[in-house]
Amino acid sequence: MCGIIGYIGSRNAIDVAIHGIADLEPRGYEAAGLAYVQEGKFQIEKRLREGLGSQTVHPSEQLRLWLDHGDATSNMCIGHTRWPSHGDNTLNNAHPHVGFIDRIAVVHNGTISNFHVLREELSGKVPLRSQTDTELVVHLVARELEASQISLAEAVRRALVHVEGSYAFLFIDRTQPDMIVAAVMGSPLMVGLGDDEVVIASDASAIVRITKRIVDVDDGEVLVIRASGIEDSSHVERISELDPHDIDCEGYDHYMLKEIMEQPRIVRAAMNYGGRINMKRGMPRLGGFRDFSGALARVEHVVLVACGTAYYAALIGKHYLQKIAGIARVDVMIASEADLSNVRAEGSVLIAISQSGETFDTKGVVDEARSRDIFTMGVVNVAASWIARATNCGVYCGAGRETAVASTKVFVSQLTVLYLIAVRLGRMRRLSRPDGKRLLKNLKALPDILEDLLEDELVETAQWIAQNIIAPSDFVAFIGKGMLYPIAMEGSLKLKEITYIPSEGYASGELKHGSLALLSTTRPTVAIIPSDDTFSDVLTAVMEAARTGSPIIVVVQESQKDMMRQILDEYSTSTFDSFQTMLVIPDVPDYLMPIAAVLPLQLLAYFAALALDREIDKPRQLAKSVTVG
Ligand code: M6R
Repeated sequence: MCGIIGYIGSRNAIDVAIHGIADLEPRGYEAAGLAYVQEGKFQIEKRLREGLGSQTVHPSEQLRLWLDHGDATSNMCIGHTRWPSHGDNTLNNAHPHVGFIDRIAVVHNGTISNFHVLREELSGKVPLRSQTDTELVVHLVARELEASQISLAEAVRRALVHVEGSYAFLFIDRTQPDMIVAAVMGSPLMVGLGDDEVVIASDASAIVRITKRIVDVDDGEVLVIRASGIEDSSHVERISELDPHDIDCEGYDHYMLKEIMEQPRIVRAAMNYGGRINMKRGMPRLGGFRDFSGALARVEHVVLVACGTAYYAALIGKHYLQKIAGIARVDVMIASEADLSNVRAEGSVLIAISQSGETFDTKGVVDEARSRDIFTMGVVNVAASWIARATNCGVYCGAGRETAVASTKVFVSQLTVLYLIAVRLGRMRRLSRPDGKRLLKNLKALPDILEDLLEDELVETAQWIAQNIIAPSDFVAFIGKGMLYPIAMEGSLKLKEITYIPSEGYASGELKHGSLALLSTTRPTVAIIPSDDTFSDVLTAVMEAARTGSPIIVVVQESQKDMMRQILDEYSTSTFDSFQTMLVIPDVPDYLMPIAAVLPLQLLAYFAALALDREIDKPRQLAKSVTVG
């Protein structure tokens, strides 16, 4: 959960590295550092995150100030941005780390699992200056170099024989400042090839400002990289589809707000602007299905696996697969809890849902599924990521880069893609052409509806509620039912992730089984009201909550608004002594209600975090991709 960058070429490598660190910062933003060589000596600069909320000064900003006020230049530099896995957030623990013979420096993304064994082995033999796993590896490399006259690449190869875990390393040698040695196992790394310059990074976002020609480094590779490219390389290049504009905030104060507002377009993008819809046949066109139609038509058991927000998308995906595709057996597993022992290879498909495509827990389940010969499919946003490459087939979300740690637009794109997959699987089974057409027509109409939803009135109401009701509270309950229960959990996750206000998402019927005891006048309840016949069940829970004095906020469709207002007014004059208000969303068909309902919840979380002056895009203790177990 860190980011690494290296550059060799004619530009000022330090400047490139600092830009890269800033672009990679969502991967970890507690500390950053860089190393370059000047007159044969290492120069190392490290900074820690300082301040809170809007006063936060990120490590990349501090490095930028240092560079702008000095005259440091170099044609080669490595940099790192840190989410601490081993050791506290201190300058000593920040990367780069230097080996004991003071010749090699390293930056690392990943975790070394036999860290304790290595530490014991090296203790007392070399000076250990940090608490990190990374430092141990640079000492191992230094030991190999000290022992025999070998190249840095060979020393790295020999040292890595003793290393277990996941890593992407960039090593530099102060005696050869025209070369970076990269080594990879289970952590993403790519090399951007420019015109007599290279930029190496753990994410394409740090590369595309310089070049879109990218080579992915595979597990087990140790590469020697110079300005002219990768030595002895037979790698296949790809052109990154990442648009450099995606990396910018485009006038918004925060990426999260930009990404919320982008969602109508994101739904269109998930349909490939119509390219994924064959309306005549009532059938989604999904390239990933092309070579596997036979196997997928026979699927009897689907296992959906994911973490966090993607897990909530999976829970809704289960409803789609059962009700639209008519697949009776659908299991949803939290990746870190997944148990495939009852999944037969024959007739099963495992669908891994992941924005980043590199989440450690989800990767682990895909790996296990492969070893059990279970057919795997990826629903992934980041192209060419580990899960995208490791699965038998897949459907990309196409949402572009999501920068804010709190996932918003990709959740909506995951739901859109799962809906398309369900219609496609349904059409390969018993879903009729007219039903397929109707479902696709509904989806095609959704982006315009979402545009209306994000009109000023709802945004303003959400902001008012967030500032006045949510931000001052010390607990918030979200309730929903059926497909809207995962939306309640997602609304709650968004809120706690960026405001740090304790919160839970409940199935509305569960409230009275214990959690109702938590509610009070300072603890609001946000209820998502379904438009189907479960309406009255959720209403019953709303009344239970209101009797505690809990301020009530209901998310309700336009056509139910008057009835809802009447009910709330009636009860407010008699039974309730609490505040009640509504967030009105346009009418949408039931299957699409989860997408429409999540938007106001995202806005509540965003505006509450804004009112509390939180670090919205980079909340404390979190990182965008969770690449550790
Ligand atoms: O990259 P992934 O979709 O696999 O990430 C899964 C979760 O870590 C992620 O959704 C996380 O819960 C988000 N920060 C929630 O906003």
